[in-house]
Amino acid sequence: MVSEFFVVEGGNRLHGELRICGAKNAALPAIAASLLTADDCIIENVPRIEDVGIMGEVLSSLGATMEWLGEGRLRLNARSVRSFTAPSELIIKNRASFMVMGPLLTRFGEAAACPPGGDIIGQRPIDVHLVGFAALGADISRQKEKYIARADHLCGCKIFMDYPSHIGTENLMMAATLAKGTTIIKNASSEPEVVDLASMLNKMGARISGAGTNTVTIEGVEELHGTTHRIIPDRLEAGTFALAAAITDGEVTLHDVECGHLDSLIWKLSEAKVEVEAEGDRLTVRGGGKPDPVNVQALPYPGFATDLQAAFGVFLTQANGVSVIHERVYDSRLLYVTELRKMGARIEVSGQTAVIIGPAPLHGTMVRALDVRSGAALALAGLAASGTTEIADIYHLDRGYEDIEVKLQSLGAQIERVRGSVPAV
Ligand code: EPU
Repeated sequence: MVSEFFVVEGGNRLHGELRICGAKNAALPAIAASLLTADDCIIENVPRIEDVGIMGEVLSSLGATMEWLGEGRLRLNARSVRSFTAPSELIIKNRASFMVMGPLLTRFGEAAACPPGGDIIGQRPIDVHLVGFAALGADISRQKEKYIARADHLCGCKIFMDYPSHIGTENLMMAATLAKGTTIIKNASSEPEVVDLASMLNKMGARISGAGTNTVTIEGVEELHGTTHRIIPDRLEAGTFALAAAITDGEVTLHDVECGHLDSLIWKLSEAKVEVEAEGDRLTVRGGGKPDPVNVQALPYPGFATDLQAAFGVFLTQANGVSVIHERVYDSRLLYVTELRKMGARIEVSGQTAVIIGPAPLHGTMVRALDVRSGAALALAGLAASGTTEIADIYHLDRGYEDIEVKLQSLGAQIERVRGSVPAV
């Protein structure tokens, strides 16, 4: 099979400056939110990644439009929506596309989609979305693979989420904007991307308060209008490059960073004795010798981000001693360890806990990206390894990172995208 893979030559220290792009996980719900109005919505600072393209295809299958106006700028319009059913072949491509359900249901009274796809990182149910839609007054049924939600009108209510699901909160928040009366979502996700979506919705005329805490209140309004909204910086891209600098003993300054969104990572890097300077929207990371071992628990925000857990695991393979990672968000997000062991990492996994014995010299070999974040983590491992690392299935990275190899190259990394037969891994 002809595909693309990365070839990484390890050993270079990363040096230089890099501008961080807009957040994938804020851009995707913002695109879905454009379905809430017939007016144009302009979204700025949108990363050029595959997942944005998939959302665009979902929107156009419904009769809405999405067009690039220039660098990072999207114009969205949902005046002529003619279908309320999202095609399964698109919905299975990522998780975020299920977020068209809330806007369609609340604006048109009907929405249908199959359970979404996305990374294989553990169980990813959508029950909190469906339970929330039902609490708002929707009738939920199942036809073949699709869930169908229908309601003449939604009514505000109190919703308790069993788990503070990130896109679950976003889907319900959007559904509640046009409901009659007030909705209170308890045990809501407080991730920064939820706050960014609430800010866009409020600019569209919604009345949302409490986003960023575990209780979000939405007073329903009659209708929403268009807006222009700038997406927040991608804390996960920033975290990935910060760790790339640390693991290569380099020095990198990242610009356009919302440093407060990275408090948990900055704390852990400092604990590991990596020099980190956060000043305004700039983050400088200076690696220097073997880091100290640290223990990390991946948790919902403001806990340590599960999306940076794999990259941090790679970093800890170089620590002077034993570190422990406990992944508490997803039940299968340590699968990357199998690939990392092929490169010489010494890691024992039991359930959702990994014990990392460092420092372990890494050596290049052939490995496979299993999902967006584990793929980026393997690229970091390749930068720290001796010799050549070949990473297959890099389409996973393209879903979530904008030109990752070009950005790494600009910092001095030797990484090339190669088209050819996938190496046998
Ligand atoms: N969960 C439930 N019930 C539900 C929904 C979720 O128990 O109905 C559980 C899941 O089983 C999982 C946990 O909640 O254990 C986290 O799932 P959540 O629903 O919060 O994740 P998500 O909203 O589907 C978003 C990001 C993920 C990120 C998580 C956690 C988007 C598009 N995706 O997913 O990002 O890991 O939140 O912050 O926003 C990535 O960018 O690589 C990525 C996977």
